[in-house]
Amino acid sequence: MALTDLYTNIQLLMRWLHVIAGITWIGHLYFFNFVNVPLQGVLDDAAKKAVNPKLLPRALWWFRWGAMITFLSGLVLFTIIYMYTPGAGFGPSNLFSNPDGGISGRALWILMGMLLGTIMWFNVWGIIWPAQKKMLQGKVPADQLPAVRKRALLASRTNAFLSGPMLFGMLAPSHYGAINPVTALAAIVLGVIAIGWAIGTSSKAGASV
Ligand code: HEM
Repeated sequence: MALTDLYTNIQLLMRWLHVIAGITWIGHLYFFNFVNVPLQGVLDDAAKKAVNPKLLPRALWWFRWGAMITFLSGLVLFTIIYMYTPGAGFGPSNLFSNPDGGISGRALWILMGMLLGTIMWFNVWGIIWPAQKKMLQGKVPADQLPAVRKRALLASRTNAFLSGPMLFGMLAPSHYGAINPVTALAAIVLGVIAIGWAIGTSSKAGASV
């Protein structure tokens, strides 16, 4: 843990970068889903024209670059924790493999989290941002606008729901460890229910003081 232990210090720095970028990304995802969707429903066209061109490009910038830094730092973390052993070099570490050669519980948790996080990253860069960019640039013909809006909303909602279980997948590796079908299912169900509750409550929550 000393300052001279380069590996430990790089790992801590990467964890910090990963979590601060993750907060930036998921914070904006929750802003869009829990605050902005209900807000847009109560704004008239004039208010939308005044607010959205100034608000959305800023929020979408932090959102998509937060997603990119989270994803890249996550891949670095996976490599240095599970595919590298100080002194021995690259290859599955003993955090990835059990002594009998099977995959460890810790690795299964992070693989679940990374699968969900990677789907979410793809939704941001492959669906939500391209659709929002075209809409903000006024490049979507009026007759296609509802379909493009719907696709972006669906991807955003999907990400909100995936974020609940994904976070269990991020936290369980170093704070829980063991995994079995019941604990994995409980993490998925609890994560989805929490987000469902937040979305269900969002049209009323904080609407008046
Ligand atoms: C996008 C794809 C992602 C990948 C590839 C990824 C990868 C990883 C890896 C490899 C770890 C280390 C696990 C361990 O300690 O054994 C980790 C931890 C973590 N990740 Fe991610 N992650 C992703 C997305 C996210 C997102 C969106 C968040 C949201 C905040 C997040 C938050 C965390 C947290 C809080 C930890 C635990 C840090 C700790 O306990 O030290 N990750 N992630």
